[in-house]
Amino acid sequence: MHVVVTGGAGFVGSHLARQLLEAGHHVTVVDNLATGRRGHVPAGAEFLELDVSRPESLGALPGGSFDAVCHLAAQSSGPASAEMPYHDLQANAASTLLLSRWCLERRVPRFLYASSMAIYGEAASPVREDAACAPLSYYGVSKLASEHLLRLAAREGLDVACFRMFSVYGPGQNLGNLTQGMVSIYLAYLLQGIEVPVTGSLQRVRDFLYIDDAVRAWRLALERPLRPGVSTWNLGSGRPVTVRALLDALLAAVQLPASHPIRELPGSAADQFALYADVTTARRDLGWQPSVSLPDGLEAMAAWAKSQAAEVVRP
Ligand SMILES: NC(=O)c1ccc[n+]([C@@H]2O[C@H](COP(=O)([O-])OP(=O)(O)OC[C@H]3O[C@@H](n4cnc5c(N)ncnc54)[C@H](O)[C@@H]3O)[C@@H](O)[C@H]2O)c1
Repeated sequence: MHVVVTGGAGFVGSHLARQLLEAGHHVTVVDNLATGRRGHVPAGAEFLELDVSRPESLGALPGGSFDAVCHLAAQSSGPASAEMPYHDLQANAASTLLLSRWCLERRVPRFLYASSMAIYGEAASPVREDAACAPLSYYGVSKLASEHLLRLAAREGLDVACFRMFSVYGPGQNLGNLTQGMVSIYLAYLLQGIEVPVTGSLQRVRDFLYIDDAVRAWRLALERPLRPGVSTWNLGSGRPVTVRALLDALLAAVQLPASHPIRELPGSAADQFALYADVTTARRDLGWQPSVSLPDGLEAMAAWAKSQAAEVVRP
């Protein structure tokens, strides 16, 4: 297969691109390096530095035929979306509109999209894909808008998969970006042995999914025909974890005492309080299930992070 991976210089996209190459597929990575790094693009992938939210960029994509677009390029931070909502809408929703139109024009049959738990807002957990969506953040709105744009493209013949990913973590996550990724942010503080500021309650509940489990679902969906229309899958571990429990597990993974200082700061109105996934649909449709436990995943991530000490930004 020849697959376009947008955002392939970022965390999830670079893992996906690498695994697709290893499985023998031909991969074209498109990324504007806003938060991604050129060095994260795996060897063997064709790389194009382009902003996929700009109409003129689409004309610069290579000719030839493609089997699928995996669209992961995004402004991926909830807090940053509150600072610059227009940019967020442009980077996330306009890019989806342009790329889906490009697929229809070029007869690229399949589109796989990196959606988010943020689209649900405060839904009851475990949340199923048919729950009402009422996002609380601009980021969640732009992700939901993308899903609707893809629904329209599907009516014109594009086969679409939307992965509503919960908190994905693992080696390769950006330890220098203190606005995105609960695990990588806390780890950046812990690796420096300093107090961890936590914006919002320690009693908030999240669902953490190891990177290899997330990428395996994408691959399973790519390597079989998609149903016509839109398929929507939650990707999470299906297990509720409080922020306090996450910090305890992280402290154990980096061998710091449970008494390490943590400071709870006021949260934001855009933050969801408690959400975890029902993953029955992905289990049934893809034969997928998460396999890496939180302690094992955090241990692997901490071992990797210690080797990246130079990358950690001093807050
Ligand atoms: N990591 C998670 O927990 C998580 C959870 C839910 C959804 N997602 C979604 O998954 C995708 C990947 O997330 P990630 O954690 O790897 O984020 P990331 O920030 O590491 O990767 C995003 C990539 O997109 C690139 N990019 C941004 N704007 C672009 C543009 N206009 N044109 C081209 N490239 C652009 C960035 O340079 C970066 O390499 C995103 O769409 C994100 O919203 C991530």
